[in-house]
Amino acid sequence: MSQVSERLLEELGETRTCDLSNARFLDPMWYHDPDLYALEIEEVFRKEWICVAREDQLREVGDYLTEELVGEPLLLVRTDEDTITTYSNVCRHRYYPVAAGAGNARVFTCAYHRWTYGLDGVLRGAPGMGGTDFEIRKCRLPKIRTECWNGFVFVNLDAAAAPLTPQIVGATEGLAPYELSTWSTTAIHDEIWPGNWKLVVENGMESLHHPGLHPVSVQPEIPGLGVKDISDFETWAHLKVPFTDEAARRLAEQTPEAVSRLDEADATALCGYFIYPSFILPIFPAYANWLSIMPVSASQARVFTGLAMSEEILERMGSDREASAAQSREQLVQVNQEDIQATRDLQRTTLSRFIDRGPVTPLELSVLNFHRYLANRLVSER
Ligand code: FES
Ligand SMILES: [Fe+2]
Repeated sequence: MSQVSERLLEELGETRTCDLSNARFLDPMWYHDPDLYALEIEEVFRKEWICVAREDQLREVGDYLTEELVGEPLLLVRTDEDTITTYSNVCRHRYYPVAAGAGNARVFTCAYHRWTYGLDGVLRGAPGMGGTDFEIRKCRLPKIRTECWNGFVFVNLDAAAAPLTPQIVGATEGLAPYELSTWSTTAIHDEIWPGNWKLVVENGMESLHHPGLHPVSVQPEIPGLGVKDISDFETWAHLKVPFTDEAARRLAEQTPEAVSRLDEADATALCGYFIYPSFILPIFPAYANWLSIMPVSASQARVFTGLAMSEEILERMGSDREASAAQSREQLVQVNQEDIQATRDLQRTTLSRFIDRGPVTPLELSVLNFHRYLANRLVSER
């Protein structure tokens, strides 16, 4: 590791104990340095729980989809009514992908030499292996840790990782009144954003940028400077950004049941839930959009994002359901485009040689907490 990377890690370690009054953002090289990027992949993305799918993408037994997480090919399958199983999507013969795309299957047949695996991952057939000592039934696709939480599917590449759900009990309790696990996915966008993964996470964790990046699409109803209740947790975090009175009134009229289930503070605010390292869930009383951010390279991130809606709001859309859902999707695309543009610009400007580490405002405590989380994962490991 270079001397620069060592210095950056030392500075990151200091964020754990620094006071908010003199805290600074990351050195801009954090968004470019290849050694630090490699360390993040190893210590964060190969060890932490990452959201890769929505449960309702896999409704029927045999429904499957293929994924990649930091270069690791994955095959997600609904193996029974209550279980989604993730396998390594690499054939045990000569390493071809076992499945491609998405669909429904009873068996998976590798397209290279036709080895066939059952939904349980066990090899069923291997043409041409007769007359060898190879025991077909003992061969199986490795399982990858998988947990479903509130309709989201999380995987962990580390077989020894602690289970996710017990680590985020507070988030589960906070979200319980929303009945989020009953909501339906109405949009999915899976796209590459042109910037380092941390730029996308930092942007998604604060609302101070609403007036700047979203003056029309967000700020008029969710004024960014109103953020409050920024929490500080090891594995998850939370904040609230109150709606304007008018926006709160309109939402209460549109979805009275959802609003009545929440306490007043939650019913009148956009609540942000974050599961470290990179799952962001901004939730309204009856719908939510999410972002799961996965690094592709130091300068590119894959963002798995979309919309989930409650039955109440879908029913209310009635015969206009498709049109209303399309309108919501357009809003999501618009807001994301504004954030994507900022990500692209920041990836360029953070290469400037004239930067000093910028000061953290109290409204960006959530971003500082994210850096503290990173420090815990990257610095203490060394
Ligand atoms: S690589 Fe899959 S059957 Fe040969
Ligand atoms: Fe934004």
